[in-house]
Amino acid sequence: MSERLDAYLAHRGYGTRSESRNLIRSGRVRLGGRVCRDPGRHVDGPVQVNGQVVEDGPDSATLLVHKPLGLACSHDPAEAPLLEELYPENLRHLGIEPAGRLDRATTGLLICTTDGALIHRLTNPRRHIVKRYRIRYIGTLSARAIERVAKGLALVDDDRPALPAVLELPSAGLATLHLREGRHHQVRRMIQELGGEVVELHRDRIGSLNLPADLPAGAVRDLTDADRKQLVEEPADMAEAWAALDHDRGQLTE
Ligand code: URA
Repeated sequence: MSERLDAYLAHRGYGTRSESRNLIRSGRVRLGGRVCRDPGRHVDGPVQVNGQVVEDGPDSATLLVHKPLGLACSHDPAEAPLLEELYPENLRHLGIEPAGRLDRATTGLLICTTDGALIHRLTNPRRHIVKRYRIRYIGTLSARAIERVAKGLALVDDDRPALPAVLELPSAGLATLHLREGRHHQVRRMIQELGGEVVELHRDRIGSLNLPADLPAGAVRDLTDADRKQLVEEPADMAEAWAALDHDRGQLTE
């Protein structure tokens, strides 16, 4: 469905909706070569303002976002500040959605896109796209934390255990969790189940795509073709860990 003329102009830098309505009513806008004074007309041909052709602009977008602390992955203004405030203004009307949400207090790599198939690919647990979370926690994790996570951790308030996952405990208070699914507050709930409390949470990899080191918190850039390929690749450094886990799991269910 094409956009209304007032929205079309507002999204292409001709002021706010009400400013673009005034522009249209003033008779300086042509649609399909004819003056159009109706802001509600749907755009079905070339648009000109003061005789200049308005460039059509992108109709889709896929962004790589470094989510900073404090933004909500929501469209509800009551939850502001919102992640969408980071999107370039000329793309905000496109209906970009994050591929899975990060909590307000979580930072890191997020893919935001108009491509529903990509969102499905990245978020469907059956596609096995692994996300890596770096965690700082307080408390003491259960002695068998790594095995419990590998078997599929039972979660309070959830009738299904988490899918088997890989937990690494490099030193006291630090953990890395590799997950193939993304349930609500999953990392925080898993760490809580294991006896700890998350105090910092950062996602730094999806598939084998790392959060670019030169992309500061709050910055956004287009996803390149190379990034897109990496997103759906299994990271080589984890192949052995997943193979062992899937093997054990296969034996358990045989
Ligand atoms: N797990 C969480 O608990 N929070 C996030 O933001 C992402 C994964």
